[in-house]
Amino acid sequence: MSRKPYEKPMLVKHQLGMLNKYGSVPSVEPMLSIDGVAVAELLEKYGSPLFVFSEQSIVDKTEELNEAFKLRYPKTTVAWSYKTNYLDAVCKVFHREGSWAEVVSEFEYDKAIHNGVPGSRIIFNGPLKPADALEKAFRNKSIVNLDNFDELQTAEEVAEKIGEDVSIGIRVNLGTSATPPWGRFGFNLDNGQARDAVRRLLAGGKLSLNGLHCHLGTFIQQPEAYQEQTAKLSHFANWLREEHSIILDYIDVGGGIASCNTLHTQYLPGSQTTPPLSRFAEAVSSGLSELTCQPDDYPTLFLETGRALIDDAGYILTSVIANKRLPDGQRSVVIDAGVNILFTAFWYKHEIVPAQAVSGTPEQAIIHGPLCMNIDVIRPSLLFPPVEVGDKLVIKSVGAYNVTQWMQFITYRPAVVMISTSGDDAIIRRAEDLSTITDMEEVPGWLQD
Ligand SMILES: Cc1ncc(COP(=O)(O)O)c(C=O)c1O
Repeated sequence: MSRKPYEKPMLVKHQLGMLNKYGSVPSVEPMLSIDGVAVAELLEKYGSPLFVFSEQSIVDKTEELNEAFKLRYPKTTVAWSYKTNYLDAVCKVFHREGSWAEVVSEFEYDKAIHNGVPGSRIIFNGPLKPADALEKAFRNKSIVNLDNFDELQTAEEVAEKIGEDVSIGIRVNLGTSATPPWGRFGFNLDNGQARDAVRRLLAGGKLSLNGLHCHLGTFIQQPEAYQEQTAKLSHFANWLREEHSIILDYIDVGGGIASCNTLHTQYLPGSQTTPPLSRFAEAVSSGLSELTCQPDDYPTLFLETGRALIDDAGYILTSVIANKRLPDGQRSVVIDAGVNILFTAFWYKHEIVPAQAVSGTPEQAIIHGPLCMNIDVIRPSLLFPPVEVGDKLVIKSVGAYNVTQWMQFITYRPAVVMISTSGDDAIIRRAEDLSTITDMEEVPGWLQD
């Protein structure tokens, strides 16, 4: 029989089965497999930690979004927001399911082309569109939403250079009663700047206006914000038609719909506080009903939904590397996945569950990552069952932004695997090793032996 590790005796407040004012304390359900593939097997095969994406989840969520919106506004097109997760395999699932691409840099633009997306199905947003990138996008007949007056002028110069008719959209920002103001991007609609942009564009005579774009913000849990947004955009579209005889091809409402994650500031789980996609669809279609154009002239509605489609599809599988008792008596569980690969831990209380059966009394714990950095906290506080070194855990709903904003810092970034709709698993991004880092570096001559 192996000796148990010594731990100084201490009194621990047991919370099992206790009630608080919202009901009973949730019990921790282990997760042994993902889409039928055993977690232990995945870790054995690909190493720990490991990102895993469920193709089935992407397919289901995309279908849910499309159905909810097309039922209420048939001319709806979804464009996958590349910055949310631009792994080729993930993008290819979205494109196969009918999504266009939404990109915010030339790098993302090139990645969409590399993934086989026709230029005419790429929406190009963001404040960084140098002349070369604009030229490429105009020649490819991509949808380009301009951000500011300087960019408008660059776009005119590029249009003149290529000598073709160029249509563009303008990005606008606006206030709603439910969202904090995001005035940084686009032309302000509320103070008349957007109208000035239209007048300036028409005076230039080199571009035509065919669309409006507005991205309200992110992790928006209030459908009514979208109702206000689309009502304002519809009124603006009505003004464009009445005042300038402009009939828009599209209205792009951006992304921002909250996923079912739980913010640190929330008590109730996101699964209870984030409304279903149908409520957002209801809100958008209600705002668009303010359009006064003929039915044939209804614009295409573009959605650039990111996190709400991919968060639930992503998991991190991780291993316990230590159990500690902190000086203040708190229990710390140290795992091999840190905030360098899970930056959303700063925003969300990610659900973390063991990947094997558990026994023993759950105790309040803090989950630390492996980095030699004080900020490496994956969950500052949660009720967690006893786990031992080597036990496996699953961190849920990590699909959005982590594999684009992750950092190679202190540790290598791990492999990423996808589980197909038929239950096969395959690598979609290899784990880093020393050569990944050193291949990018140069040692100048005077430092070589
Ligand atoms: C222009 C634009 N569209 C779409 C998105 C996707 O947003 P979300 O992931 O919140 O749905 C973003 C993200 O910031 C964005 O900037």
